[in-house]
Amino acid sequence: MDNQNLSRPELTDVQEEKIETTLRPQTLQEYIGQTKVKESMKIYIEAAKKRKEPLDHCLFYGPPGLGKTTISGIIANEMHSKIRITSGPAIEKPGDLAGILTSLEEFDVLFIDEIHRLSKVVEESLYPALEDFVLDITIGKGAEAKSIRLDLPKFTLIGATTKAGALTTPLRDRFGIVQKLELYSVKDLSTIIKRSSKILGVEIDQASCTEIARRSRGTPRIANRLLRRVRDFALVLADGKIDLKIAKYALNQLEIDELGLEEIDRKMLSTMIVQYSGRPVGIEALAASLGEEIDTIEDVYEPYLLQIGFIARTPKGRVVLPPAYEHLGYQKDRVLMALLAPMLLASRKN
Ligand code: ADE
Repeated sequence: MDNQNLSRPELTDVQEEKIETTLRPQTLQEYIGQTKVKESMKIYIEAAKKRKEPLDHCLFYGPPGLGKTTISGIIANEMHSKIRITSGPAIEKPGDLAGILTSLEEFDVLFIDEIHRLSKVVEESLYPALEDFVLDITIGKGAEAKSIRLDLPKFTLIGATTKAGALTTPLRDRFGIVQKLELYSVKDLSTIIKRSSKILGVEIDQASCTEIARRSRGTPRIANRLLRRVRDFALVLADGKIDLKIAKYALNQLEIDELGLEEIDRKMLSTMIVQYSGRPVGIEALAASLGEEIDTIEDVYEPYLLQIGFIARTPKGRVVLPPAYEHLGYQKDRVLMALLAPMLLASRKN
């Protein structure tokens, strides 16, 4: 590690976010993983450039931290255009949207994060902009009100959401390109960690890259965050270089287990096993038991637990699967017996 890094003062969250940005790839070539998405986007971008048209509107969906914003930045870059970033909740009124749309330039990318959270009026005022690159605005009120139609530059909307199902059909239908981002493999995450270490100027061995990757829940944002934390431990407790011993120590200190589960995941699973006796649990009941938002459970915790086969969704609710019992050290039969024993005893007494 170089001296500049060694003497860097404690980073604030804003600085951490800046680092996160510096770790982001700028081109499709640099982007690791999501091969299917990357390959099809490459074709669509090239075709749009050949036709000298803007890229069709795109919708990216999937769990948080998988690179929806990153890919959007890359698309703008590859199209040689600018990107304007906003979010569904930030656009409160049709007037806010009008301000954004009229400030765009030809072929610009407008990125709307959490697009499922657009209000109905804003969403409806977006339709003509997406279809015909026009905007209908109303001037005045009541009987005096007049509607005028403004021409807009041809732009590309990129919508991102963790909840594709929450989008209305008319909005979803206006995206010509819809791509699902998947959780990353350990191998891809390991390559991302190696690349990020190089950018951060940290020495790390292959075994440590794999170890951090295994505990990153298929998510590059988590991988990069864990890398920065492990780097802190390496700097204070060792010579700044990350080896397997320091990586394991740091990750254990952070209470992230071998599969990347944190306290809240373990609490969720053991609540389902003990409190709900391993029976199917409705999401509302689970959220209430854990004191968490339904959305947080669905978008943040569940995708990885589903992916590694620890839970399953059934029509009756969520169930815990055998590998989770094993991982947490519960023996399924014993849990069942412990739960059944009082009932059996009671029935014998009667
Ligand atoms: N940093 C975060 N996500 C990345 C990705 N998919 N490829 C390369 N670097 C990344």
